[in-house]
Amino acid sequence: MTDPKPALGAVIDEASADLAFSRATVSIVLTNPNVDDNPIVYINEAFEELTGYAKSAVVGRNCRFLQGPDTDPADVARIRDAIRAREEVAIDLLNYRADGEAFLNRLLLAPVFGEGGQVQYFLGLQKEMTARDVEDAGGRAAAADRMRAVQSRVRAHLAGVIDTILDHPNAGCSERELLSLNRRIETLQFLYEEMIRPAPFGRNDGRVALGAYIARVGNALAHVEGRPGIRVNIASVDLAAGVDVSTRLGLLASELLTNALRHAFEGRAFGSVELRVVTLAQGGLRMTVADDGIGIPEGEPFPAGGARGGRIVRRLIEGMAASIAVSRGLAGTVVTVDVGADALAGGGGARCGTVTAGE
Ligand SMILES: Cc1cc2nc3c(=O)[nH]c(=O)nc-3n(C[C@H](O)[C@H](O)[C@H](O)COP(=O)(O)O)c2cc1C
Repeated sequence: MTDPKPALGAVIDEASADLAFSRATVSIVLTNPNVDDNPIVYINEAFEELTGYAKSAVVGRNCRFLQGPDTDPADVARIRDAIRAREEVAIDLLNYRADGEAFLNRLLLAPVFGEGGQVQYFLGLQKEMTARDVEDAGGRAAAADRMRAVQSRVRAHLAGVIDTILDHPNAGCSERELLSLNRRIETLQFLYEEMIRPAPFGRNDGRVALGAYIARVGNALAHVEGRPGIRVNIASVDLAAGVDVSTRLGLLASELLTNALRHAFEGRAFGSVELRVVTLAQGGLRMTVADDGIGIPEGEPFPAGGARGGRIVRRLIEGMAASIAVSRGLAGTVVTVDVGADALAGGGGARCGTVTAGE
């Protein structure tokens, strides 16, 4: 791309640019139930925008400060019971922004289990429900039904992967690591948004429109990590895939593309990166991230063993029983990830299928 912002339309069509940036984003919060009163340890920017509270004002506090005079105590009791039982809960409740304005908060709460089976974090996803959202989703009851269906799938898959990417969220992170953490969590946020989009744009079978999701992850990254002179091309087949494999592929796309944008063009003014997802003749799919930059130096392993990004890539690959191959040419690096048909079909029970027109 020649300029990350104005040139966006030249790289992707207007419709996907709109998809990537105009929709209200989901706010994300993580709390630590192993500390007294389950305080917030992480919030994303969408949380700050939604609530009007700055990160510095909320980290260390319990989320109940969002409640106010007209919040229904029965709703709060439901949340309290779910947390005590270490269960997920999806609920619409009245909350208040920092300036005192009330809003209807669609809250999804899920425990994130550590390897020993203990709850390590609670994950909270908040989305403001406007009257229009409720209407679009076919009324409040239908919206709540849809939410519950999504929630049970999200809990199983998303929380587990969050555990993969959060080794030590509080372990003296550098600014760059915090930015990486933010990017990884926002990649999951996009997935969640693809899943809660009301029909006819969203799917209602619990599967993810993988092409739209990968395009969104890639476009958002190109926007954030891109720089003038570096072109980013994204092309993904339209596939309906299971939540688990979609989560992993979205995170992989995010890791590999970030890596290319950060390292492939050091000292170079021009270059291009291509993120491509195609189906394989035998079933399954292939994701490639190819750059024409300086290439990985001879003898340097990739994904690098010690670095967090490298560990995450390896764990994501193992979790899908996929293969990863890295080739270094005269011009840059090509990373190829192949995912078998079995892994692609998993996560939702049903077989993977191509999205048909109108879905
Ligand atoms: C991860 C997480 C996110 C939460 N997000 C919200 C929220 O957005 N709004 C809200 O009113 N309560 C939220 N809560 C619930 C409150 O923190 C608290 O658990 C609830 O008020 C019940 O406990 P209490 O009766 O001790 O207040 C969240 C809880 C957790 C664990």
